[in-house]
Amino acid sequence: MKLIYEGKAKKIYDDFKTVKGQPTVIMEFKDSLTAFNAQKKGQFSQKGQLNLKFSQKVFEMLSEKGVAHHVVEVLDQNRIRVLKLKMLPVEVVVRNKTAGSLAQRLGFAEGIQLKKPLVEFYLKNDTLQDPLLTENQIETLEIMTFDEIKAAQVLALKINLELLQFFNHVGVDLIDFKIEMGKDESSKLYLADEITPDSCRLWDQKTQEKLDKDVFRRDLGDVGEAYKKIAQKIGIEI
Ligand code: ADP
Ligand code: TMP
Ligand code: ASP
Repeated sequence: MKLIYEGKAKKIYDDFKTVKGQPTVIMEFKDSLTAFNAQKKGQFSQKGQLNLKFSQKVFEMLSEKGVAHHVVEVLDQNRIRVLKLKMLPVEVVVRNKTAGSLAQRLGFAEGIQLKKPLVEFYLKNDTLQDPLLTENQIETLEIMTFDEIKAAQVLALKINLELLQFFNHVGVDLIDFKIEMGKDESSKLYLADEITPDSCRLWDQKTQEKLDKDVFRRDLGDVGEAYKKIAQKIGIEI
């Protein structure tokens, strides 16, 4: 088994296995936690397995609603087998309420309901700190085609609708989230990477308590406890 990539939260190994003729890789969820492009580093025990279980539960729900995702099988507490995809070079962010970089950049308070969900694209480039892209830039600079942009927007909005319902059901507001997508050899588009408290903003509807990575980013308390709380709400025990 060969380590082919180590990122901030996960490692990718290739064991050269195919599933139904499709190449796969192994994705390992680490206990580490970073923010601000890894300028701030942390970790907590069992974070990797908590995020794996969280993402798995959400992906399974999305799969039932017709969303194709990259997970092939769960191998153990920290590792899953996924389709080896050609990743779109962007992070796709969907926002339902103002928060984070949107609120900061435009001088808005956090928590204001948006008229409709906002889909944004950020270039995946750590050196440039993942800059925001316009659709025009993406098409003109040939980062993605027009059809890829439209397909990514449609998939992101469908996922948003399902996630809003899923979290609302357990008394949690989905403020915003980030997803990544990739294509297989036949150019079919899949939801890839993860959906976890690292990649979403989740606020308790009653208390407005933040149950996501902002607890770590902003030093708001015990991030491990926040992750356990949101995991419990969606029925995960660690
Ligand atoms: P980062 O690269 O931002 O530090 P991670 O530590 O989460 O993030 O690393 C996981 C990497 O795996 C990301 O670069 C992501 O784009 C990539 N990835 C996610 N799913 C797949 C997949 N199915 N096939 C290939 N690469 C993937
Ligand atoms: P932002 O407000 O900082 O742009 O973040 C929007 C959403 O994307 C939020 O739910 C956190 C998530 N996110 C990531 O998953 N990875 C990142 O690198 C960043 C900047 C945000
Ligand atoms: N994902 C980025 C990092 O790990 C930024 C963030 O989530 O705040 O540094």
